[in-house]
Amino acid sequence: MVEAKIAPSMLSSDFANLASEAERMLTFGADWLHMDIMDGHFVPNLTIGAPVIESLRKHTKAYLDCHLMVTNPLDYVDQFGKAGASGFTFHVEVSKDNWPELVKQIKSKGMRPGVALKPGTPIEEVFPLLEGEHPVEMVLVMTVEPGFGGQKFMPDMMNKVRTLREKYPTLDIEVDGGLGPSTIDAAAAAGANCIVAGSSVFGAPEPAQVISLLRTSVNK
Ligand code: DX5
Ligand code: ZN
Repeated sequence: MVEAKIAPSMLSSDFANLASEAERMLTFGADWLHMDIMDGHFVPNLTIGAPVIESLRKHTKAYLDCHLMVTNPLDYVDQFGKAGASGFTFHVEVSKDNWPELVKQIKSKGMRPGVALKPGTPIEEVFPLLEGEHPVEMVLVMTVEPGFGGQKFMPDMMNKVRTLREKYPTLDIEVDGGLGPSTIDAAAAAGANCIVAGSSVFGAPEPAQVISLLRTSVNK
C-alpha cells in the first residue's frame, strides 16, 4: 500500500501571504505543499521561481513539492537545490534528450526527482525514466492542460494512472488538476496516491475537511 500525500497547490493561495497560507494548509492536515513553477514559455503563464522558494523555506520545514513547467529544467536544478526545494518534478516533453543527467543532478542537490506528463503525452514516454541507474521517484500525471488552476478534471487520464500502477505497485503517482471531492474517487481507484488540489481546497469553507476527505479516498 502506497502512502497518501495530500498536496495543496499554493497557486490557489494568496501569494502576498505565502508563509501564513502554507502554515494554514499544514495545520489543516496537508502532507506536502505543491509549488507550481511556470516560465511563461513552456506554459502560457508566469508564476514564481527559486527566490520565492528560498523565502518560504525560511518559514517552514514542510516538503516543498516543486512542479517545474519550464522549457529548460536543467537550468533551474542548482538554484532550486540551494533554495531548499524538496521534490523537483520536470516535464518529460522537454527532457527527452537529457533526463539521465537531469535526474543525477537533482539527486546530487539533495532533491527527489519526479517526471510529469501533459494530457497529450502517452504514458509509455516515462517508462525509460523509471528504469536504470537513476530512476525518477515519482510520476506526475497531469489531469488538466498545465498552466492554470481551476480547470476541469480529465477522467481519460486515469488509464495512464492504472497502467502505471499495474507496472509499479510502490511508485508515488501524483495527479494534478481538477482534483476535489467529486473526482478523487476516480483517481484513487486508478491508483494515484499523491493528490494535488488547488481550488477545491483553497475555495472550500472548511479546507481541513476537504484534505481529510481526499486522504480517506486514497486510503480506501
Ligand atoms: C496547473 C498546476 C496545478 C494547479 C491545480 O498547471 O500544475 O497544480 O494549480 O489547481 P486545481 O486543483 O485548481 O486544478
Ligand atoms: Zn502542478
